[in-house]
Amino acid sequence: MKVFAIESSCDETSAAIVDSTGKVYANVVNSQIDIHRPYGGVVPEIASRAHVRNIQPVIIKTLEAADSSFDAIDAIAVTYGPGLASSLLIGLSAAKSLAMSLDKPLIGINHLKAHIYSVFLDNDLSFEQMCPFLALVVSGGHTSIVEVESLTSYKLLGQTIDDAAGEAFDKAANLLDLGYPGGPTIDKLARSGNSKYVKFPKCRPSETSMNLNGLDPKLCFSFSGLKTALMYYLKKNPLNGTEQEVCDIAASYQEAIVSALESRCEIALKAKTYKAFAIGGGVSLNSALREQMTKMAERNSKPILLAQPKYCGDNAAMIAGLAAAGAGIVTDENTTIDATPSLAI
Ligand code: KG4
Ligand code: ZN
Repeated sequence: MKVFAIESSCDETSAAIVDSTGKVYANVVNSQIDIHRPYGGVVPEIASRAHVRNIQPVIIKTLEAADSSFDAIDAIAVTYGPGLASSLLIGLSAAKSLAMSLDKPLIGINHLKAHIYSVFLDNDLSFEQMCPFLALVVSGGHTSIVEVESLTSYKLLGQTIDDAAGEAFDKAANLLDLGYPGGPTIDKLARSGNSKYVKFPKCRPSETSMNLNGLDPKLCFSFSGLKTALMYYLKKNPLNGTEQEVCDIAASYQEAIVSALESRCEIALKAKTYKAFAIGGGVSLNSALREQMTKMAERNSKPILLAQPKYCGDNAAMIAGLAAAGAGIVTDENTTIDATPSLAI
């Protein structure tokens, strides 16, 4: 089965063609980073207008890249949430129109589950054979620890109660005047820095926090205090103008995020017998995270599943792949899909 998918949940307009083995025939991603950079973050109204401009060229480019036509496609898939409602609606409308005019099934896919699926793209691994596995989704909008029982059964074990890990990177970069998005720049600078230079908080939520929603606080995160700690640190210790100092601060800040992610995932990994540990989402590009999590998985005798770099950020290949593998909401003449900007997995 070959699926054509559209992803437009945030600031990437993407389309892809993937089959049920996870083989990617085309994955076109049009990033809006340059448009949002001057604002230091994604502006929803600008994002949705850019999706309107980009969606048709991206669809055409995807068919060309796969040297395919819609005749070879069995179903149309689309991200229905979570994400920015005004951005989701553009992809959703395009996918509905395609499915209707081509008389093909429409499959709605959850964006977070697709980030988890991304570790199975373009390789020989089988999703079902890896189950049950533990997954961490770390992106600009989400930080979630999930137990994956099967393609269609997921259990949220922990999540951030405020900022996402990627957001924490981006806010720090803003305070340090490093531009947007901050993650890649902090990652680069941190390689030449001393991670013990500043002692940052451990990103633990208070056990009495109202935002835990019944989840175990030991598996949850609170990143909002981290950027506040950095802000107060910089007020008290104005930068001395050397690049080394910025590298040291970046390394210390990154270490606080990575060790928080590592420690919570290790607790979850030890609590049950999982076959593997998977990480998806834009922050999984972080080199320290990849290195430390690989060591942590090794220490716990678990294979680590990391997406190829091109499938870490938002892309439609992960949406098409998960739909082709047999997950998602398949609509018929009586049902439809609405853009639901919910945080649910
Ligand atoms: O998955 P993604 O492309 O979009 C969302 O679904 O949010 O993730 C984007 C996030 C941004 O916050 C960006 O700063 C972060 O991923 N990111 C990184 C790295 N590359 C991207 N964070 C840390 N280190 C990186 N190398
Ligand atoms: Zn994402």
